[in-house]
Parts: sequence; C-alpha cells; structure tokens
Amino acid sequence: MEMIELVERLRARIGAWRAAGARVAFVPTMGNLHDGHLALVEAARAQAERVVVSVFVNPLQFGPKEDLAAYPRTLERDCERLAEGGCDLVFVPAVASVYPRGSAAQTIVEVPGLSDVLCGASRPGHFRGVATVVCKLFNMVQPDLACFGEKDFQQLLVIRRMVEDLAMPVQILAVPTVREADGLAMSSRNGYLTASERALAPTLYRVLCAARDALQTGLPVARVEQQACADLRAAGLLPDYVAVRAAADLRTVTATDAELVILAAARLGHARLIDNLRLRRD
Ligand code: PAJ
Repeated sequence: MEMIELVERLRARIGAWRAAGARVAFVPTMGNLHDGHLALVEAARAQAERVVVSVFVNPLQFGPKEDLAAYPRTLERDCERLAEGGCDLVFVPAVASVYPRGSAAQTIVEVPGLSDVLCGASRPGHFRGVATVVCKLFNMVQPDLACFGEKDFQQLLVIRRMVEDLAMPVQILAVPTVREADGLAMSSRNGYLTASERALAPTLYRVLCAARDALQTGLPVARVEQQACADLRAAGLLPDYVAVRAAADLRTVTATDAELVILAAARLGHARLIDNLRLRRD
C-alpha cells in the first residue's frame, strides 16, 4: 500500500490505473479507523480493482466549539489496518493543499433542505463542510464509485443529492452500520466516553429498537419520538433529537410513507452520539 500526500502524485498514480482499465473505488474518512471504516474498504474492494482511502480531518465541517483539535489522529495504526484491509492507496492531503486559500475563502457546495434539519440544525455549516470536502476529494480522486456508511444516514443522503444535482459521474454505495457486540454503533468519537459512559452508550441503540417496535405496532410517530426522548433522558443521555422521517429525503412522515428511518442524536459526557434504524411500515 502506498501513502500519497500530494494531489499531483495522486492524479498520476490513479491515471495510470485508469489507463490500464482498472475500476477505482474511494472511501473518504477522517481516520482513527475502526471496523466500520474497514467494512467500507471491504465493500469497495468487492466492487473495484483499486481502492483509495483518504484520511483527512476536515476543518470545514467542524463548528467553532467542536472537537477539531481533539479529534483523534492515529495515522500509523490506520495505515496498518488499511494495508491489511486491502487498500491500495491512502491519500493524506495537508489542510493547505485541500484549502489553499484558507477554509474561509473558497467555493463551497451547499445542499439546501437536507443539510438544514436534524444534525444540520444542531451543527450549522456541518453538511456544507462535508459536501464541499467530498466534492473536492471526488475531483482529486475521480473514482468510479465511493462508499459511505449508513451510520451517518443524513450525510449519505446529502452526498447522494449532491452527486445527483451536480451530475457527478460517481456511483454511491451505502454500507450498513457496523456495531459493537452490545449494539453501540462504532464511531471514532466513542473514544471520548469514560468507562461508565461507555456502559450507558448502547442505550441509544436499544431505544431506537424499542421505537421501531412501537412504530410497527402502530403507535403514532409523535408518541414514539417523545417516548424515545424520555427513555434516553431517564438513562442519563441528553437527547438532541429523535425523529422518524421518510428514508428517501428526511421529510416528516405522512400516512402513505412506507420506507422510514428513525434517527437520533444524544450527548453523553464529551461525546455526541448518533445512530439510526431503517424500517418498513406496511
Ligand atoms: P468518518 O466519521 O471518518 O467516517 C468515514 C465513513 O465511515 C463515513 O462514510 C461513515 O458513515 C462511515 N462509518 C463510520 N462509522 C461507521 C460504522 N459504525 N458503520 C459503518 N460505516 C461507518 O464521515 C466522515 O468521516 C466525514 O464526514 C467525511 C465523509 C470523510 C468527510 O470529511
């Protein structure tokens, strides 16, 4: 596995692969890799001859009071895991090469509507930062396909919409959420949890499962959302939101919607945990 920092070298390497007829799959990450990220690499591997993974902690998607400085950076270990996982090239650009004019003065990509609700409402500018960096990374790597985790369901929809609206020639592959044995969705931010918080953290998944069951027995959406928030609070988590939405576009649910998603975000100590569950309502 090769590690590349410069865009020009990246283009040259990938250009050569492409000229030889290889399909290129891309997995963008912020590093501190866990089995969830590795599942994306495996999905990429299954679809293409060449797999490129980026490790870039993107300043543009962090709010002023968020954890940009504290975000765990573990490049050496990440590279070991990626090499074992079948990655061909890890792209590790410097901040200055992604944002040569500084992150404040540059062209941005905005996906309105989808970016403004749920996590977007609590984290203003977050999805603008995500869409902008993913667009730039797509232009640098020019992959045939790119893999994203369902764990970040709203992010996945934002990226799909960006690709559709801007006619980007990239296929987007969604990969199911990888969980710890107790149900907690794997996340780089789980490392912020103390031992006692870590023991509480799977409550988020359990509450989502209970909400799914309640919806399937026909309980009204608003009741289910309220109950889930109350259950989170009772367990010591601070819910930001629990929302049942249409899975296609995060619209509020109408009687005819069958494909739903329950999304939740909650604070626990220094961590902000997110998770979601899909369900079909007949
Ligand atoms: P990061 O949080 O590192 O996640 C990189 C990718 O891994 C995302 O597509 C995310 O959904 C996926 N992922 C994380 N945890 C997962 C899990 N438990 N199961 C399955 N997939 C999981 O998301 C980002 O980085 C950034 O916003 C990025 C897209 C790289 C743009 O900066």
